[in-house]
Amino acid sequence: MEKIKIGIIGVGNCASSLIQGIYYYKNKEPKDVKGIMHWDIGGYKPYDIEVVAAIDIDKRKVGRDVSEAIFAKPNCTTVFYEDVPKLGVRVAMGRVLDGVAPHMKNYPEDRTFVVADEEEEDIVEILKNSGAEIVLNYIPVGSEEATRYYANCCLEAGVAFINCIPVFIASDKEFARKFEEKGIPIVGDDIKAQIGATITHRTLAKLFSDRGVKLERTYQLNTGGNTDFLNMLARDRLKSKKISKTEAVQSVLAQPLEEENIHIGPSDYVPWQKDNKVCFLRMEGKIFGDVPMNLELRLSVEDSPNSAGCAIEAIRCCKLALERGIGGVLTSISAYTMKHPPIQFPDEKAREMVEEFISGKRER
Ligand SMILES: NC(=O)c1ccc[n+]([C@@H]2O[C@H](COP(=O)([O-])OP(=O)(O)OC[C@H]3O[C@@H](n4cnc5c(N)ncnc54)[C@H](O)[C@@H]3O)[C@@H](O)[C@H]2O)c1
Repeated sequence: MEKIKIGIIGVGNCASSLIQGIYYYKNKEPKDVKGIMHWDIGGYKPYDIEVVAAIDIDKRKVGRDVSEAIFAKPNCTTVFYEDVPKLGVRVAMGRVLDGVAPHMKNYPEDRTFVVADEEEEDIVEILKNSGAEIVLNYIPVGSEEATRYYANCCLEAGVAFINCIPVFIASDKEFARKFEEKGIPIVGDDIKAQIGATITHRTLAKLFSDRGVKLERTYQLNTGGNTDFLNMLARDRLKSKKISKTEAVQSVLAQPLEEENIHIGPSDYVPWQKDNKVCFLRMEGKIFGDVPMNLELRLSVEDSPNSAGCAIEAIRCCKLALERGIGGVLTSISAYTMKHPPIQFPDEKAREMVEEFISGKRER
């Protein structure tokens, strides 16, 4: 099978898990495979992906081979496959813009971003010369300008874009139109996890609704110790994240909750948790006879492999769109793998739509 050539923007923990996974699954027999939603998508297996370009701004990553950069500090996710071969792909220096928040300077180097003292490189040229077909955006939450800059680079280079972060690109009408006009697929925004806080909260909210229980109040508090959580200590960077996570839950309720009765978001940074994310979820409602009930749940997951489980699906669906000459928003895989797609669907419906897309019964 021909390889799917991808570029990565932001060689952090999510990129590390994704790239480790590409090699981890290489010699697996289908019967032994765990942790993958589809082993085969249109003939493509998880290992039929090749990283051909990578961009970052951190001095411990820029200039190094991607296979080394994914294990460089401040990355701290679980190493489940350490033998990633040298890829011959050097991490290029990107454009910093608003990628690095001012408060990040106040933390020890091992735990924070350190901007490289390098000249910014020509991203459009890098993408064109590398042969990348699809780019994944993995830069920090709140990187509004930087994300728009990289999305425009992809438009100029004619490369598909999978926007894993909560800056609205696929769900922005203007950007969606530009990708459609150029015939370039786009998937977004803000990647879901395989079993993360959002999908769990959505599933339980739907259960309440299906069983006639009126959900009256809910919160979802999340803590973690990676740079993603450190970055999110700056509340002014969280506007889109909060919208994305809150709408993901509100959209499955028959009647959305008043703003004061729903609180969802990253809540604190606990350094020793590293890439382990803990979610505390509470839901209060009324059952038969208006009698009160509540549910409390604690979910503990390694954050980055959890997102890679969705990215490995999105990449292969995006490749099918490229092969079929389909540009613009890929509605089904965006609804299935992203928290803030242009159109929200209940998860089981989104799953059905993805199956139809893969088999060719649905255009996008
Ligand atoms: N882990 C998950 O389950 C999950 C879910 C949804 C969304 N996300 C989002 O995905 C993104 C990546 O997550 P992560 O855990 O890998 O983050 P991370 O902090 O580990 O990695 C971010 C990387 O981006 C680099 N960077 C910063 N500014 C940049 C710029 N201007 N240009 C290029 N590179 C730049 C940093 O040096 C770092 O290597 C975050 O925005 C996160 O919120 C993750």
